[in-house]
Amino acid sequence: MTAATALIQAKDLCFGYGDGFELRVADLTVRPGQVLLLRGPSGCGKTTLLRLLAGLLTPAAGSVRVLEKDLAQLSVSASRALRLREMGLVFQDFALIDYLTAEENVALPAKFAGGAAPDPAYLQRLQEELDLTPLWQRRVTRLSQGEQQRVAIARALSGRPRCVLADEPTASLDPRRRDRVVDLLKNYAVSEQAAVVLVTHDPALWQGFSEVLDLGDEEVAAP
Ligand SMILES: Nc1ncnc2c1ncn2[C@@H]1O[C@H](COP(=O)(O)OP(=O)(O)OP(=O)(O)O)[C@@H](O)[C@H]1O
Ligand SMILES: [Mg+2]
Repeated sequence: MTAATALIQAKDLCFGYGDGFELRVADLTVRPGQVLLLRGPSGCGKTTLLRLLAGLLTPAAGSVRVLEKDLAQLSVSASRALRLREMGLVFQDFALIDYLTAEENVALPAKFAGGAAPDPAYLQRLQEELDLTPLWQRRVTRLSQGEQQRVAIARALSGRPRCVLADEPTASLDPRRRDRVVDLLKNYAVSEQAAVVLVTHDPALWQGFSEVLDLGDEEVAAP
């Protein structure tokens, strides 16, 4: 694979839930080292699009390719394996396992993927960058929303995935931590030569992205 080959590519996507809502995306391409900012008003389909890119939803038409694999051609287990090994997902509602600690939640993707446990030095760096060190052994139900969100980010990055899909990953964070998380994701894309899709409707984050995809009909004006 050359450096310029897309890690995530969607073409002529069309998807509906059967209730009138319809998502159409003609072209989405994210190459190694790039962060694509995905923005648009509430309800326009940002989460839906991430789920299509992750293979958690199937488009009615069009294609999604991740690491040059056409998701439509993969079996359910191959799609799951690709997601576990190559994709880091930050869910909008975090989707942490309540009865586990932060550390146990972060360890889950590697456990399910059946591969090697994450490099401890790398994990420690993530912990520190996300200010999670004092909270590492705590059950996630005993963490604040912002703390839980940072655990969800650590979990998504724990396996050093080539593709990261982050759904409003800073929505519960204070401005300082919000900016640090955006920097972390930008640095991650470059250092790991990964593709990152960052969803946000927070205008404070709209500066400094060369790759932007606007969804929805409303005009989106940068500040
Ligand atoms: N499981 C579902 N079944 C039916 N309709 C759904 C489902 N999930 C979302 N929708 C609808 O699809 C549309 C897009 O939803 P989606 O969650 O993708 O929006 P979003 O852009 O992520 O919004 P937000 O910024 O509020 O998170 C909305 O109209 C929503 O009501
Ligand atoms: Mg959403």
